[in-house]
Amino acid sequence: MYFYYRRFLSQVHQRLRPRNYLEIGVRNGGSLSLSRCRSVAIDPAYSITAELNAPVSLFRTSSDEYFARPDPLHPTNGEPFDLSFIDGLHLFEFALRDFINAERHSSNRGVIIFDDVLPRTVDEAARVRHTHAWTGDVYSVLGVIAKYRPELSVITIGTQPTGLLLITGLDPDNTVLSDRYTEILHEFRHPDPQPVPDHLLDRLATAPPQKVLDSGLLELLAKADPETSPADLRKQIAGMVAANVGRAYAPGELADISAKG
Ligand SMILES: C[S@@+](CC[C@H](N)C(=O)[O-])C[C@H]1O[C@@H](n2cnc3c(N)ncnc32)[C@H](O)[C@@H]1O
Repeated sequence: MYFYYRRFLSQVHQRLRPRNYLEIGVRNGGSLSLSRCRSVAIDPAYSITAELNAPVSLFRTSSDEYFARPDPLHPTNGEPFDLSFIDGLHLFEFALRDFINAERHSSNRGVIIFDDVLPRTVDEAARVRHTHAWTGDVYSVLGVIAKYRPELSVITIGTQPTGLLLITGLDPDNTVLSDRYTEILHEFRHPDPQPVPDHLLDRLATAPPQKVLDSGLLELLAKADPETSPADLRKQIAGMVAANVGRAYAPGELADISAKG
């Protein structure tokens, strides 16, 4: 069934009710127009034509430059992001840095969503762009998270045209990815043609969008008590994801603990 990515994102905004939203990669404002809360939007070349529906701080710069600033949370008065959408430069190392920066400025109940993790062809995934529609090698972040951050809940979602990746159970204080950044690039950045795994190309390992929306995960996060410790919340998230989306999307150990109560 055809499920456009912005329809999914719109539902995420409605169910999660984020207090602060981060968007990296704005272009015409199509996805930004879905936000109803205080928003920080970054793009060196935005050209907004969509009508916006939220108080937005727009920055005409790259995400790297923005996060090198002394206080990236200045526009939110220091409040972290509950929802981030990463849709900037579609090269693996840029997307990975965007994740590192977004998580560092996220709340415990935060959700980070990547666009374009399901290329339809190897050509579309090329680092050197030669197709009209282009995902680049953003898909490589999946392998990195699986290896270095197995405690996160990571759901690949079969939206059109090129999939979404939803990550939650975040820990703003975790520095594994930045500490191992050089080693990660050596292992996961490949020259073209990209070795895109078959299970991404054929979409066999993706969760149906409506199943994710109906899982209760977003409502759980929306209601999460700010006093809940990150570890406890991560267990609750893992239990919900394992029970209602699929065990493959939740960290095994945490899902087991949660199932035992
Ligand atoms: C696919 S478009 C974003 C589409 C938008 N999110 C939507 O769904 O309506 C990608 C955007 O990323 C921007 N971009 C490119 N490099 C970037 C960077 N280093 N930091 C932030 N944005 C970047 C481009 O200018 C482009 O407008």
